[in-house]
Amino acid sequence: MSLPKRVVLVGPMGAGKSTIGRMLAKELGYRFLDSDRIIEERCGANIPWIFDVEGEDGFRQRETAMLDELSNEMGTVLATGGGAVMRAENRGLLKKNSVVIYLKTSIDQQVERTRKDRNRPLLQNDDPEGVLRRLFAIRDPLYTELADIIMFTDRKSPRLVVRQLVNRINPKTPRHRRQRRKEGRHNAQGTSRAEG
Ligand code: S3P
Repeated sequence: MSLPKRVVLVGPMGAGKSTIGRMLAKELGYRFLDSDRIIEERCGANIPWIFDVEGEDGFRQRETAMLDELSNEMGTVLATGGGAVMRAENRGLLKKNSVVIYLKTSIDQQVERTRKDRNRPLLQNDDPEGVLRRLFAIRDPLYTELADIIMFTDRKSPRLVVRQLVNRINPKTPRHRRQRRKEGRHNAQGTSRAEG
């Protein structure tokens, strides 16, 4: 597989899309884009403010317009918001010229990683875990259908996830060949290590 024109990360809140996306972009020599952060910059306000003033519908309109614009940016890794897959129109835009990666994460990990967050309006209530469960039930089939690659992120460091992604996206990169040679040497010495 040659390198894709762009890489798109989808998955729930707390999956690590921004952290992993930034590191993956660096590794591939691509530009990193985060649709939520660009919406905030353009709007001059943060996401809670947009939800407050324009409602979720207002935010979703901005999100679709942003995904449309960013779908023409090649040589990029795009981190999307967890709800970006809800509109069929968005799913078409995310698929354009891209390899789509679903960062799949357990509810426990999502809860853990979003616990102290105040920037996600959908979780500012008495039962954030219940919300994450309900959203997962609706969205997991959509993420799965859209994805070219599904990568589990639980109990893995971002660095390991990125290494595994690079190998899946383009198994012929020099880095990968070096890694394979190293593993071969370790195997010969009986010190090989399971991964995944
Ligand atoms: C949302 C996820 C958020 C952000 C907004 C709505 C969602 O992005 O787009 O708060 O519907 O799941 P992250 O997935 O980056 O937290």
